[in-house]
Amino acid sequence: MKRRTIAAALAALAGLGALPAHAQDTIKIGVIAAFSGPFADYGKQMEGGIKAWMAKNGDTVAGKKIQVIYKDTTGPSPEIAKRLAQELVVRDKVDFLAGFGLTPEALAVAPVAQQAKTPMIVMNAATSVITTKSDYIARVSMTLPQISAPMGDWAVRNGVRKVVTVVADYGPGIDAEKAFSERLQKNGGKVVEAIRVPLRNPEFAPFIQRIKDARPDAVFVFVPAGEQSVAFMKGYRERGLADAGIKVIATGDLTDDHVLPAMGDATLGVITTFHYSAAHKSPENEAFLKSFAAASPNAGRPNFMAVAAYDGMNAIYQVSNKLGGRIDGDKAMAVLKGMKIDSPRGPITIDAQTRDVVQTVYVRKVEKVGGAPYNVEFDKFPDQKDPGK
Ligand code: PHB
Repeated sequence: MKRRTIAAALAALAGLGALPAHAQDTIKIGVIAAFSGPFADYGKQMEGGIKAWMAKNGDTVAGKKIQVIYKDTTGPSPEIAKRLAQELVVRDKVDFLAGFGLTPEALAVAPVAQQAKTPMIVMNAATSVITTKSDYIARVSMTLPQISAPMGDWAVRNGVRKVVTVVADYGPGIDAEKAFSERLQKNGGKVVEAIRVPLRNPEFAPFIQRIKDARPDAVFVFVPAGEQSVAFMKGYRERGLADAGIKVIATGDLTDDHVLPAMGDATLGVITTFHYSAAHKSPENEAFLKSFAAASPNAGRPNFMAVAAYDGMNAIYQVSNKLGGRIDGDKAMAVLKGMKIDSPRGPITIDAQTRDVVQTVYVRKVEKVGGAPYNVEFDKFPDQKDPGK
């Protein structure tokens, strides 16, 4: 046979599934996230984290080649996320689903993971309820209640009693508002106004005026990382909230490491609670930062989503090793339950009961380090579970 004919015959056989050897030599990971649109950074950060892991740990596990398939939701778009997940499961026969920056997309994919028995590794989406929506979900990122409740302790201990809350009006924002407010009030503080802003294209100026008029000690903020945090801090600066003596306390989404250098001096002094800072001092973080910069030289500073993706890959490599490269959904979940990971943020555990991450929540302050702003950790709350579970 001529070479072209052989190639065509092989291709046809492969299409019919007559040559499964190739598929069996590969472990496939389908990564679903926004790579374009207003949340494009989420996918890019995750891709950077995945590449950093693979640059450091290779692309073969238990004799199998790791293949990562990236899919862009352009989101937030739950419908597209769900369709992409179905394609990945049915057509590509992926062994793992991963990614998920935004809660609505994670929630839309949960039934697909459940039906296909495909492990789904959540690398950001942080509404508490997500992990209860399928037995095949494990989360390596955070939950908003986990991050926000400690701020309710820190605030009152540090003389912040009268607070206005501002959150994005969807799952993680509502979770943050509830967990922070309950803890603050339990400690004797008071929420004088609770403001919710739309997830899409929020206009912060009028809300910021309302905060100013309420004259609180501080404003507590959760907005999804990226453009919205930039917009909020711009409004805060322009409307003179700092001059009025109103502090910003927030989840670390507001001072996301990736956008922080572009946010200007208005962020200096902002106090946040969070699970990861690029300024975290540990050998694991040093290795991560180095590998990220080498694998994605133009990506800027990695943030918490890059770290969760790096840790998610760590989890997938651990599972693949334990199972000798033969991935089965139920066996994979058994390995994930109780798994320990030496993360760049510090050690984390996947809770055996809830499949949710248990970790230290740090209190940080934005300060200049070597001329550039960083979230400098100065206090911590160890072993934090999602408080709702
Ligand atoms: C989410 O949609 O769950 C989400 C998005 C961005 C964040 C945190 C949570 O910074």
